Amino acid sequence: MPSKTNNGVGVQVEDTKICVVMVGLPARGKSYIAQIAQRYLQWLSIPAQTFNVGNYRRNDAPQPTADFFDTNNAEGERKRRAAAEAAVADMLTWFRTGGVVAILDATNSTKERRKWVNEICVKNGVEVLFVESKCDDQDIIMANIRDVKATSPDYRGQDPEAAAQDFLNRISKYEKTYKTIDEDGDEDEYTYLKIMNIGKQVIINRIQDYLQSRIVYYLMNLHIRPRSVWLSRHGESMYNLDGRIGGDTMLSPRGEQYARKLPELVRESVGDDRPLTVWTSTLKRTISTARFLPLHYNQLQWKALDELDSGVCDGLTYQEIKDRFPDDFAARDEDKYNYRYRGGESYRDVVIRLEPIIMELERSEDILIVTHQAVLRCIYAYFMKKDQAKSPWMNVPLHTLIKLTPRAYGTEEIRYEANIPAVSTWRGKGSTAKHDNPTPESL
Ligand code: ATP
Ligand code: F6P
Repeated sequence: MPSKTNNGVGVQVEDTKICVVMVGLPARGKSYIAQIAQRYLQWLSIPAQTFNVGNYRRNDAPQPTADFFDTNNAEGERKRRAAAEAAVADMLTWFRTGGVVAILDATNSTKERRKWVNEICVKNGVEVLFVESKCDDQDIIMANIRDVKATSPDYRGQDPEAAAQDFLNRISKYEKTYKTIDEDGDEDEYTYLKIMNIGKQVIINRIQDYLQSRIVYYLMNLHIRPRSVWLSRHGESMYNLDGRIGGDTMLSPRGEQYARKLPELVRESVGDDRPLTVWTSTLKRTISTARFLPLHYNQLQWKALDELDSGVCDGLTYQEIKDRFPDDFAARDEDKYNYRYRGGESYRDVVIRLEPIIMELERSEDILIVTHQAVLRCIYAYFMKKDQAKSPWMNVPLHTLIKLTPRAYGTEEIRYEANIPAVSTWRGKGSTAKHDNPTPESL
């Protein structure tokens, strides 16, 4: 269980409060970075919340034209200021209820605005980490406008071309007063990360503590090149047939069939010409499952992808666990995410050891991961923002390939079934069935 001063991922969070203040002109990926950072922190059980000033502004000015953002427009200035104040007030309230990392998502594109945010945060005992996205690649900016801005609530019901043009005008209003952080050399006291042209170059200034450096390291690894992540469990194993957990057994005959079918499923989903890297665990059943994949795919074994360690229960059926360790069996059902097997691991422990995998995944392009039920649930939870209380109960069937494609706002999922029968290894709360039937809520 996490201790009071440690959230279980080795981060001392009790007294830490960080406000990540986004900086940059419109359509520079600030909201994208904010939501991905929030997802990552929440996956690590660090209370994190984004405060999007645009959402507050929309209450008062739902569909403004570019002129609203002109600094000579007094009413526009007043409403924008009020929206920023409301977001910051809610953020401070949230910190008082245990929040650890707030992300203030706005342009914060002038020195005055940054000074104001910084002063309020410092007064309230909140550390400030400015994160600027600076991008002058016109192709990227236009693609961002067409991808996400022309369809934003600001332009609902409007012609996409007219919306894109108005958005370009909006950007030029901001450009009149925009100062990149520390441009004049008088913001050097601030802690900041400046990401230029999606990580081609980064500047890091005065990063203070561990959690800040974790956030910075994560953000430095992000990229937006198109890519997908494929996830598969190993083929059905001999232990799966018996309803036994853990172990390092070989594939069953049907598991073997899946291993032979996997290259075809992958070809169908990936195509022939995309280079793919394959990661497996160090256990026989995942290595065997991946062994017929094309030789030109790089293959890598990660200990971090090994199945959740069930300690003294390794090799037992759920019925045997209940008979030998009834209190443990009940405790696991009570809080499956936090329950740690005697001499083994909890789901929370697995998330911690998967962090380097997530970091590497973010840096990489197309990857196929062949792993195990619990590990796959944790990785899936990261991409799909699954609640940690629910993810350990998710049904992830054998003999199914899952394709996840990160998009600007969320991850798309496609499943490919091999149509090779396999037992179910899913188990409902309280059940000791060897092979339980998944319920609709477990999907
Ligand atoms: P606004 O100020 O209008 O809210 P924004 O800066 O928050 O704009 P986003 O809504 O985040 O812009 O833009 C999303 C797009 O930005 C996505 O298409 C995403 O691929 C892209 N993107 C992500 N990271 C970056 C980056 N570092 N630089 C430029 N574009 C990026
Ligand atoms: O049953 C297959 C298996 O991969 C076991 O080796 C592992 O202990 C288990 O799934 C994890 O699933 P759960 O957390 O639902 O017991």
